[in-house]
Amino acid sequence: MYTKINKLPLLLVLFVCAFQSLCAQIPAQDRHRPDFHFTPDQWWMNDPNGMVYYEGEYHLFYQYYPEATVWGPMHWGHAVSTDLVHWEHLPIALYPDSLGLIFSGSAVVDWNNSSGFGKNGQPPLVAIFTQHDMAGEKAGRHDFQYQSIAYSHDKGRNWTKYAGNPVIPNTEKIHDFRDPKVIWHDASRQWIMVFAAQDHVKFWRSPDLIHWTFLSDFGQDWGCHGGVWECPDLFPIKIEGTDEWKWVLLQSINPGGPNGGSATQYFVGDFDGKQFELDPAFEKLVTKNQGVWLDWGRDNYAGVTWSDIPASDGRRIFMGWMSNWDYATKVPTEKWRSAMTLPRALSLRKTQDGLRLAAVPVQELKQLETDSFMLKNRSIVQGKPFTPKIAFTPARLAADLWLDLGENKTTTFWVVLSNDKNEEYRIGYDAASNTYISDRTRSGNLGFSDKFAIKPHQAQGGERKQKLHLQLYFDVASCELFADEGLVNLTDVFFPSVDFTTIRLENTKGKVKLTAAKFYQLSGKAGK
Ligand code: FRU
Repeated sequence: MYTKINKLPLLLVLFVCAFQSLCAQIPAQDRHRPDFHFTPDQWWMNDPNGMVYYEGEYHLFYQYYPEATVWGPMHWGHAVSTDLVHWEHLPIALYPDSLGLIFSGSAVVDWNNSSGFGKNGQPPLVAIFTQHDMAGEKAGRHDFQYQSIAYSHDKGRNWTKYAGNPVIPNTEKIHDFRDPKVIWHDASRQWIMVFAAQDHVKFWRSPDLIHWTFLSDFGQDWGCHGGVWECPDLFPIKIEGTDEWKWVLLQSINPGGPNGGSATQYFVGDFDGKQFELDPAFEKLVTKNQGVWLDWGRDNYAGVTWSDIPASDGRRIFMGWMSNWDYATKVPTEKWRSAMTLPRALSLRKTQDGLRLAAVPVQELKQLETDSFMLKNRSIVQGKPFTPKIAFTPARLAADLWLDLGENKTTTFWVVLSNDKNEEYRIGYDAASNTYISDRTRSGNLGFSDKFAIKPHQAQGGERKQKLHLQLYFDVASCELFADEGLVNLTDVFFPSVDFTTIRLENTKGKVKLTAAKFYQLSGKAGK
């Protein structure tokens, strides 16, 4: 005998359970938390600071306000990693004091104990940072930012501020006078500090990290000036495939980026221990209001490179803040705000447009791969989107795509992430304009700021090529594009109301041959 069961209540119960278990997996507070990008456990974060490698640990300090999810009195938060991929949160490293808040800066290993801060034959770590006197600023003074130092004897866990701070007072009373990056300049056997002063950078030198002398200015007449200059970096780098060295100056500016708000430009030249001179070929590319961008996305700011990477490794490793001052304090996360970009290895390449920086994700990220899916020889034709049946959820995924445009000069090719809420994020290439395009105008939650997703935005492609290689990293809330072996970078965040679950390849114009594609599922918990 059959008893007719009314299935509706049962379905309702199942639905409620499923919904609850989904919520249990991702507490609302952790919604949009990246899986393999660095975020603070809670509260507000901006710029990466004090990045230094010492005794097997990559240190990442960062601008941190541990009382709210908006910017406030700045501390240096701290994390360490042995592989640039898995991070361990450590207690706050530097707290504000009577001289002011702790703004951005750098850290070095003082190998020769030039500062005398070393102990028991061990070199100290020395942090160099801006202090910002809020009271001075409120009182309308112009000398409220200056450079200070602190040292550590225990691998960055505890810091002692130098009693004679500040080491560079702001005697010229320059309103924006901040973000020191210090390097050891081997040729002249001295420390060099570069920091930002409103619309240019200043170079200073020191024998001991304590006593500093002014050297020179650079930048008033070069590069973009749509906003204030912040967070410079200066480093030597070899031109790929040669034995020739050049110097690169990274320079973040806010606002005035190519796609609105914050962005980072760079200059290639020479530095003789006194002055930075533009490379003659590079000089042609930068005028007073024209710059060359490190990344065309809207979410890579204030990035600098690690200090003291061993010569045996030899890489120049970069990390930026994956946000934009246009909307950083409003993005829809609850417990914490902001993530860092992936760590990237920089190189300097000769191109038909002159010397250019290229950035690719560090190879350590390979350990995140847990599953993969491959494809070969497939035509993607206008009107016929292709959804590869990969066995994993695209929200955390790397893709390597090799495309052949053939004779087709009007192709517009897209990689589209989507969910069943009709939300999507699109990243693509338009052959006619030779631009890469990021479109987050339908990517989910946009309403928190009218500056977030005004329209799709572009990255200018370099040398036109018939064959393209796109490397993509998608995390829960971000996309990083590395095209043309890193010459074109585009980094953007997005906030879908539920994770993106599908990846689709499509052409909205013309056709393209997908010569090969590799998709990798990534898990931040892998490789530990
Ligand atoms: C860049 C910046 C720096 C400053 C810090 C303050 O994002 O404005 O110039 O040191 O943030 O948090």
